[in-house]
Amino acid sequence: MRLVFLGPPGVGKGTQARRISEQRGLPHVATGDILRAAIREKTELGKTAKGYVDAGALVPDELVIRIVAERLEKPDAAGGFILDGFPRTLPQAEALDDILRERDLSLDRVLFFYASDETLVERISGRRSCACGAVYHVRFDPPKKEGICDRCGGRLSQRKDDREGTVRERLRVYGERTNDLIGYYDAAGILIRIDAGRSPDEVSRSVRQALS
Ligand code: AP5
Repeated sequence: MRLVFLGPPGVGKGTQARRISEQRGLPHVATGDILRAAIREKTELGKTAKGYVDAGALVPDELVIRIVAERLEKPDAAGGFILDGFPRTLPQAEALDDILRERDLSLDRVLFFYASDETLVERISGRRSCACGAVYHVRFDPPKKEGICDRCGGRLSQRKDDREGTVRERLRVYGERTNDLIGYYDAAGILIRIDAGRSPDEVSRSVRQALS
């Protein structure tokens, strides 16, 4: 299956994408994770992306489109994928359609996750992440030992772009640029709305239904 998980910052796209990726053996392609890894490793991509990500702005379309096009060429994506955080603008959505059309493929479903702004802010402010990719929440999904990753023993930290001022900017950018994609995929007849303001297991149940 070729899937897109769409929705505002902190709504739980990554949490649900990781679950479905494990259950269905589909690669989880998260542009935010790819960009943060590049920033940590100080690659050329990371050096270019850092200023945008830290400010809560979108990285230029050409750059993210290239990253995704290259990633989708890898053999593990041949049988399907979950795109999380991409596309985020109309040009990105059109470029994705072109990439797939060149291979006689198309998206199967776009899951649009929604929740109230209050829920988003609560989830983002309590998120703690590990460099290994694990994600926790101080209240909703705490690690066994405070500040320490259950999976690798690494130290948890708060993403720089999860601080208050930057979160406001990310929400503003989402409203201005990404909201348009709801209409785009609705018109294509592949959008499914998921109420993400519930517990992770309840949301997962709706996701499984949407994919069945
Ligand atoms: P990115 O990493 O994609 O961030 P985002 O879209 O803002 O999404 P988040 O990672 O904040 O949230 P999420 O929905 O995955 O929530 P999560 O599952 O972690 O992008 C970061 C930046 O990279 C962008 O600002 C931009 O600069 C750049 N970028 C990335 N892609 C780009 C693109 N295509 N174009 C241009 N620039 C791009 O959950 C959040 C928290 O809530 C966690 O702590 C989790 O444990 C908890 N939680 C999850 N679900 C639930 C639940 N149901 N109940 C209670 N708690 C829950």
